[in-house]
Parts: sequence; C-alpha cells; structure tokens
Amino acid sequence: MDQPAPAANTESATAEGAGAPRRSLLRVWMTVAAITALLNLVVFGVAMSEPRFDAPLLVALLSVGALSLLQIVFALTAFVAALRRQRETRQRRHVFAALGAFVLAGMGALQGFFGLFFVLLSGAGWGRPLRIRGQLRHPELTGGSDWSRGEMPEVNKLDSATRRALEALWLHDAQKEHASVPAFTRVSWLLAAVGAPPQLLEGAHRAALEEADHACRCFALAAGYGGRAHTVQPMPDLLLAGFELNGPALEVLAVESLKDGCLLEDFNADIAHACAIVCREPATKGVLERIAREERSHAEFSWQVLEWALSQGGAPVARAVKRALTALDGTARPTATSRATARLVKDANAAQLLAHGRIEDAQWAALWPQRRTATMRRAMSLCARALDGTAAWASPAP
Ligand SMILES: [Fe+2]
Ligand SMILES: [Fe+2]
Repeated sequence: MDQPAPAANTESATAEGAGAPRRSLLRVWMTVAAITALLNLVVFGVAMSEPRFDAPLLVALLSVGALSLLQIVFALTAFVAALRRQRETRQRRHVFAALGAFVLAGMGALQGFFGLFFVLLSGAGWGRPLRIRGQLRHPELTGGSDWSRGEMPEVNKLDSATRRALEALWLHDAQKEHASVPAFTRVSWLLAAVGAPPQLLEGAHRAALEEADHACRCFALAAGYGGRAHTVQPMPDLLLAGFELNGPALEVLAVESLKDGCLLEDFNADIAHACAIVCREPATKGVLERIAREERSHAEFSWQVLEWALSQGGAPVARAVKRALTALDGTARPTATSRATARLVKDANAAQLLAHGRIEDAQWAALWPQRRTATMRRAMSLCARALDGTAAWASPAP
C-alpha cells in the first residue's frame, strides 16, 4: 500500500542530486567573476594613471582583455544557470544570485575594457617621459600665463571646434614637455651617481633646458589657439619619489636611455619632423621644426649615455639591455591623440588640423615600426661590442 512513497523520495533525491552540482557550479562562476572584477579594479586604477610604453604592463592589460571576455561568458552562463534553478525550485534567491553574478562579471569586464581603451589612447608628447614609482606623470593644468612664452599662431580662418582641438593638443604636449624637465633631472642625478664624464652631465642639463623651452612654446601656441592661457599645478609627487632604482644603477641608466631616449625621443623627432613638413602656419611650423631638431639631439644624447654605460658596465649591462630589447618589440605605440583630446579631434576639421601641423594617427602608426627596428638594430650592435669586449666610448664633439 505504501510502495509508491519510496519512488517519490527517490525522484526527489535524484532532483536534489542533480541540483547540487549546478549549485556548486554557480558558486564557482560567481567566485571567478568576483575575483576578476577585483583584479580589474586594480588594473583600471593603474591604467587611469596613464602608464605607457611599458611592455609588461601592456601584456598584463591584454590579459585583462581576455579575462574580460571570459567574464562575459561567466556572466551569461551564471545568469542562465540561476534562472533554470529558479524555475526548478521556485525560489527567488536564485534570481538575485543570477543578477549578482551578472553585475559582478559585467562590471569586471567593463573595467577591463575601459582600462585597455585608456592605456591604448593616452597620447604621446614631445619629450622624455617622466616616471614616478613606475607610472608616467605630468603636471595638471590651471589658469595662468607664466609658462606661455613664444610666438602665437594665426587663428582667424579656423573654426571654433578646430581651435579647441588644437588648444587641447598643444596643452597635452606642454604637459609632457614640462614633465621632461624633471625626467632629465633624474638622468643627471643617475649620471653623477655612477661617475659619468662632464660631457654627459652637461648634455642632460642642456636637454632639460630645451624641454623647459619646448613647454613654454607649447603653452604659448595653446594660448593662441584657445584664446586663454594655462599654466602648471604643483607636482608634490616629485617630493616623495622619482630617484628610486629597480636594479644596479648602470643597468637602469642604460635601459632607461634605450626606452625613453633612444626609442621615444627619436620617434618624437620623427613625428615632429613629419608634422613640420605639412604645417602651413608659420609660428607653429617654427616650433615643430625646433622640437624635431632638439628631440633628435636628445635621442643622440641618450645613445651616448647608452654607449658609455656599456663601455663601463660590460657584459652585465649588455645583458640587461638585450633583455629590454626583447620587451621593446611589444612596446605600445605612442598615439596621435589622448583620451582627453580624441573627441575634440574627431569634431575638428581634418584639413585645418593638417595645415596646422597635426598628422593623422595612421602616419604615426607607419613611422613607429621603422623607428623601433632602427633602434633595435643599433642597440644590438652596441650590445654585441660590449659582449665581445670591444665596447668603447668616445666623447661627443662639443
Ligand atoms: Fe626631449
Ligand atoms: Fe621636448
């Protein structure tokens, strides 16, 4: 009489047995989604501080991109799994679990993608990059004219959107040029620390003075385009850090010279030269020509520093430079616009931008591999000489 009861219990136990794996799977998805969301928070914070030209970071961010894609899969799967559980059990908590998993994973994915977007669109400048605790820095802006010194452009024929874009582009350049002054201070400090000859210390200080002049001229052009003057805010971060080393001083000096000077300042010179060629505005063209000429000399100064460091440090420095060369291959390309200027440039008149010396990002992309290859070849040849014991340094002509 009571025979059917065990059958019902068996059916219930079977349903429960099938539900347990689903519950544990849901928990795994939610845990992974939560962990990747937290990880992306960290990476997003780093990305927002505008790190650039750093291959390991780029690799990390590309990994986050892949993680973000995975999170979307997690989010959708967890959502469907939880809805199915809710239909089976009629319990509301599964709807909340589904929404929780969806929001967590979706948030992490968005952060990852935004992090990538900002890093890949943070824009280049015309000077040597300044790093504090490994992160790129430049001064923030405020109203004021003390840093505006130089010729102003003729702007009467420009529409307002193009003027706004050119103002933003030159302000961005001015910030980067300003940051190059303390960047060369660090070079000078390091050179003194390792007993470098006077020609190199003089070169570092000469470059710093030229970067200060570039900053003033960029601020003046920005003021001309925008009809209002800007200046820099204090950089208290500089009081806390900026001279720290992550290895032996000669190796750090050599590797930083390779990345920030030999590669980036030579590329800056390439871009400024290409911009000067198309520029039809006399004041702007004059600044671009000066920047192209002096950035090239800053790059040559960095090659001198690299050669000297290899002649002093021999094989260990050569091995450090070769390791850096391997990473150089994956270095992020500097871009024509930053996240702050991209929208303004999009709204501007492209022909007018070109006439005022702003080439398109496609041209930056075309010049980048050539410069990177030339840098790698020249550096490899210097390393080979250091490794076979024939490295020598000749003082540059005054
Ligand atoms: Fe420079
Ligand atoms: Fe510069």
